[in-house]
Amino acid sequence: MKRNVAALALCDWSKKQVSRRNVARHFMHVRPGSDVFQMLNDSIITEMPAVEQQIRAAAGRPIDFKPLVQMMSCNIFCDYLCSVRFDQNDPEYQRLVRDFDEVFWDINQGYAMDFIEWLRVFRLGTLKHLRKLSSRIRKFICERIVNHHKETIDYDNPRDFVDMLLRRMNSQEGDHERISETTALYELEDFLGGHSAVGNIIMQTVTQLSLDDRASLPYTESTMYEALRVCSSPIVPHVASRDSTIGGYDISKDTLVFINNYELNTSPQLWTDPATFNPGRFVKNGAMVKPPHFLPFSTGKRSCMGSKMLSNITFLTIGCLLQKFDISLPDCPKNSRMVKEHLVTGCLALPVDSFSLVFKERTHT
Ligand code: HEM
Repeated sequence: MKRNVAALALCDWSKKQVSRRNVARHFMHVRPGSDVFQMLNDSIITEMPAVEQQIRAAAGRPIDFKPLVQMMSCNIFCDYLCSVRFDQNDPEYQRLVRDFDEVFWDINQGYAMDFIEWLRVFRLGTLKHLRKLSSRIRKFICERIVNHHKETIDYDNPRDFVDMLLRRMNSQEGDHERISETTALYELEDFLGGHSAVGNIIMQTVTQLSLDDRASLPYTESTMYEALRVCSSPIVPHVASRDSTIGGYDISKDTLVFINNYELNTSPQLWTDPATFNPGRFVKNGAMVKPPHFLPFSTGKRSCMGSKMLSNITFLTIGCLLQKFDISLPDCPKNSRMVKEHLVTGCLALPVDSFSLVFKERTHT
């Protein structure tokens, strides 16, 4: 079975995939003390005042926080990977963020037809709509990001991830093969689209913290992991590239294999009281502990490339917010419905119209 070679996560392993992962590695491996760590921190810090300004404008009234978070997250990604930020009032930018979020929501539903080609006939209408969103995203990225880079690039001094992709289009580097323009654009879209995952996990974590009077910085990390535990679903399939065995089972070449993250994260054999949302399960003697069967980003050579970016952005943004605001979830019909239907499900994505939150300026430290 040959799978869509455009999407980074859903394609077969190949020299091209090695080349694609290699271009992104520098920007994704955000280690404390590295130049990219500082760059990412700067992008986050630059974005926070706009969020705080809008929170303050609400003056303690409930706000729909998700659009704000998604716009913030997208601008952090654009600044960090493409050296460009957009005005939050720019209607084209607002639409880009909504389009990405809608695509992300759809991917997270884990429809069987996403993996089984012939079932697609049952979703032709939705697929047409998703194609429309994707081509609008492509147009924005070309017109507002890539064209300017093409005109101003200095191949010897790449400024950012976009320049690195343009350089890889023009030359083979070491063992890594050249990539086509289409491949480069898909790759850029895939990574920029990562902002939707980040925005959604920030929403999940902030909402859980708002329900918990222990909300604090150290507690944020375990809350994020607990949110990942309850949200993870088996959305990324693999295809066996040769005959093999797993745990004593014969797997023949081309078999579709899923790592069942849902089972790994909710099995009573692996977790105490798995149905309860309990960030404390990741903390032992004041330190974070992750059991070996907790693999929200998978493992091995196809593992998630965005996990470091995700945790850096999540902790820093939530940390900045908690320093300044007490966050609570007001009791209203919409929030009650959202808590019931969307807070603890095997789905990371929250609907576009999500929780309303109240932010009150902190009067204590
Ligand atoms: C809550 C957030 C996220 C979760 C739970 C998550 C989880 C995963 C998982 C389970 C995989 C599949 C690994 C496998 O095939 O074995 C994956 C792949 C991938 N993720 Fe993430 N991810 C998240 C956010 C991100 C972000 C923010 C980015 C980019 C900035 C990203 C980039 C990627 C890429 C490029 C791949 C494909 C890697 C490959 O197949 O070579 N992810 N992710």
